[in-house]
Amino acid sequence: MSLALAVLVSGSGSNLQAIIDAIEAGKIDAEIKLVLSNKETAYGIERAKKHGLPTVVINHTAFETREAFDRAMVQEIRSHGADVIVLAGFMRILTPIFIREFFPKIINIHPALLPSFTGAHAQRDAAGYGVRLAGCTVHFVDEIMDSGPVIVQAAVPVNAGDDEDTVGARILEYEHRIYPQALKWLAEGRLTVDGRHVHLAPSEAALIGPEAGGLVNPPLEEGF
Ligand code: GAR
Repeated sequence: MSLALAVLVSGSGSNLQAIIDAIEAGKIDAEIKLVLSNKETAYGIERAKKHGLPTVVINHTAFETREAFDRAMVQEIRSHGADVIVLAGFMRILTPIFIREFFPKIINIHPALLPSFTGAHAQRDAAGYGVRLAGCTVHFVDEIMDSGPVIVQAAVPVNAGDDEDTVGARILEYEHRIYPQALKWLAEGRLTVDGRHVHLAPSEAALIGPEAGGLVNPPLEEGF
């Protein structure tokens, strides 16, 4: 059955664009029923309109409480017939009111290798910390921010001289690949959640040794 998506954005919407492109290319059996933003100026809304998708802006500052804002979002999403929530750079903390309404069909992308660097400035935090591998994570959402079961992660190198912007750009390239891929798996009914673990059917190969791969940065020299 085709997924009925609501994509929530607060900014540029480049992940939204990657998802739209994958759906239009026939790679994901899904329909975007609504693109919702808390910000009038979010470029993601423009992107959605260019593709003829329904859009709604709900300004969070017009609500006295997070709960009231979440109730308004739930109403819009339901009235557009969506039941799978795709958080794509949506920079508001969701309350249990929202999460319980759609759980477990809420997924998020975060620009870090969770559980490292949670929060709103993951790329800056990773660059500042001096890690040599950064990355991104697509995960199911639970009631704790950036904590739900991991579906897929991608790691990228961080090199001397990198900053928030260069690391962020490298991460974003992989966000645009793993988010549509995760949605495809979801649409195919291939993901099952067992506690903290997400299984991808059919069973994944349990490789050990050199064939399992592994990313080392800076790269190992010959002989190591
Ligand atoms: C992306 O890097 C996404 O991972 C991040 O916001 C950016 C949105 O870009 N999300 C978070 O930091 C959530 N905590 P986009 O609007 O171009 O897709």
